[in-house]
Order: sequence, then C-alpha cells, then structure tokens
Amino acid sequence: EGFTVAILGATGAVGTRMVQQLAQSTIPVKTVKLLASARSAGKLLSFKGRALRVAATTAESFAGIDLVLASAGSTVSQRFLPIAVEQGAVCVDNTSAFRMDPTVPLVVPEVNKEILRQHHGIIANPNCSTIQMMVALNPIRRAIGLKQIIVSTYQAASGAGQSGLDEFYQEARDYLDEQPMTAEIFPIKGDHQHYPLAFNLLPQIDILEDNLYSHEEWKMIHETKKIMLGDMNASDIKVTATCVRVPVPFSHGESIWIDTGKPDATVDQVRQALANAPGVVLQDDPRHQLYPQPLNATGTRETYVGRIRPDLENPGAFNLWVVADNLLKGAAWNTVQVAECLVTDGLVHAPA
Ligand code: A2P
Repeated sequence: EGFTVAILGATGAVGTRMVQQLAQSTIPVKTVKLLASARSAGKLLSFKGRALRVAATTAESFAGIDLVLASAGSTVSQRFLPIAVEQGAVCVDNTSAFRMDPTVPLVVPEVNKEILRQHHGIIANPNCSTIQMMVALNPIRRAIGLKQIIVSTYQAASGAGQSGLDEFYQEARDYLDEQPMTAEIFPIKGDHQHYPLAFNLLPQIDILEDNLYSHEEWKMIHETKKIMLGDMNASDIKVTATCVRVPVPFSHGESIWIDTGKPDATVDQVRQALANAPGVVLQDDPRHQLYPQPLNATGTRETYVGRIRPDLENPGAFNLWVVADNLLKGAAWNTVQVAECLVTDGLVHAPA
C-alpha cells in the first residue's frame, strides 16, 4: 500500500527538508529512495525513524518509482526527469529547469492547484521568493484586485544551498575573530567576482542579464505572470523586483508595494482578504510591535504578513511585509504539498 517516492538531491539543504516534509505529510509512502551525487553514496539519512542509505543517481535509479521530488540543480533535473517520466513517474521539480515550459504547470497549491490536471509528468515548483509573494497577494487579487507589484526581497543565505550556508557561517566566525573572510560562492557560484555575505548585503541573486536585471528578479516577474495569469508575458499585472541577499540563514523577507487598481479599497478589506487565506498567518499588531520576522517563521510552513499600510498618496495602493521559510514553503514544503494534491486528486500516473 502506498507510493514509491524518490528524492533527488536528498542530501542538500532543500532535499533533507523534503525527506522531513514527506515524513510529516498525508502521502501514504511505501518506499523512499534517496538519491544524490556519487559523493554521497552510502551516506545514511533517517525517514520516520528508519535509517536509509543514499544512492548515486543514474538513469537506472527511476525504475518502479511513482513520484520524484527533485532539488539537485537544473542540469540534474534536465538530465534525469525526462527519463523518470518515461519510466512512468510523476516529478515535482524544485529547480528552474522546466518552469517556463508552457506545457509544465507552475504550481502554488493555494493559488492554482487546478492546473495540476494538465500535467504531462513534470510539475514545476516556483522560485522561493515568488511562492511566498503569491500566497500573500493572491487573496488580495481575488477579493479586491491587483494591477501592479513592486517588490524588494531580503533573501536568506540558505537559498544558495548547504555550501552557501556553510560559507556564510564561516565568514561570520572569521569576521568576529578579526580574520580575513573568504568568499567563493556568493553572490553566485560560477560568476567572476565573489563577495562576503556576512555583515554585508549583496544586490545580486543569480546571474545579471543583458537588461541589467538579475535572473532572480526575472523569475519573480515572469513566474508571477505565469502563476496568476497563465502566461509568463501577460501584461494585466505589472511586476518589478529588486532581489537582495541578506546575512540571515533562513527565511526570506519581502517588502511589497501593490496597486489594487481600486481607489476605494481599504486596509480593512486587505486584512479581511488575508485573515482567512489558506497558508497565511496575519501578524500585524503595530501596538504590540507584532510583525513577521525570519527567526519566527523558520521551521514552519506558513507565510506571514504584516506591516499592512495604505500608500498615503496613492489611493488603492498598499505596502506589506511578508516572511516565509525559504526552504519549506519556498521549496521543500511546496513540493511535498503539490505531491499531496496529486495524490488526493488521483493524478499520480503517466499522462494520458
Ligand atoms: P551531494 O550532497 O552528493 O553533492 P544543495 O542545494 O544544498 O547544494 O544540494 C544539492 C543537492 O544536489 C545535493 O543533494 C547534491 O548531492 C545533489 N547533487 C549535486 N550534483 C548532483 C548530481 N550530478 N547527481 C545527483 N545529485 C546531485
């Protein structure tokens, strides 16, 4: 009874949390197969109190697998997920490899789980920063309206994976010990220049494009349009973004300005829209200095919204502050949540 689930990238910052979120999910699991690079073969990880051995990933790893949860980087997903689908598996992919493929659903369950019915074997998990913004803004869009988004992110070190997190902690130790800091990963692995993240702010996440936006900013713009409007280039909602890496280990913050397009919209209506929204916790009590913070969000599945204020000079526009655990709602939990929806709706099977 139950599903055979493979976790691709099981040893990583997201993968270890996928194992944990799967164990805590409603998915009936028969067998779990933990996959990573050859470097990790033989390593032990625990699932529901049992020790499981990690295996190296090969084209043969996917025989008999019902569900694949992937977070081992885009090139690994590009290489192995089509093979897994060919062998009958349904894949939920946390990498950016297939997000903009028009035949691949890009899903935040609170927003657009209906499109899971259209899957062809691969479902993409959006970027971490996009996910928490969608959870917070979709209820406002549905209840009031949404014409424009201007977002600035405050993104945690763990978004760069376990090695990024390790580099950040080492820099912090070195700085406090008055030693020189060494940077080899941030702002991104594989670019020319590297800078310390500890005690710093880095306004570059992912590569810088020819139009001078970072690829992370590009993702927030086009993933938002695909999730909310079904088309990565839709113009009904205008989006612009500035993405910044901050010296915080876990949970992303976002300062978001929105124009609802409804000049009569009130703050009470915005609060009301969020108060009962799925996945949202309203944390907005200025009198008691209550507002979302990374330290409080970390380890939870929810998206926290606070500091809700009307723009004093633009009727119908509002400012909000949104925080969520980038490794859980931004990655592992959203992936497992999508898989739960697939199971509940009977969609864990090869496409018709
Ligand atoms: P490994 O730990 O063996 O390197 P993170 O996002 O924290 O950097 O984690 C990346 C994950 O992707 C790790 O589990 C890593 O395994 C895995 N990975 C990296 N390269 C490959 C590969 N070529 N094949 C399979 N898994 C890989």
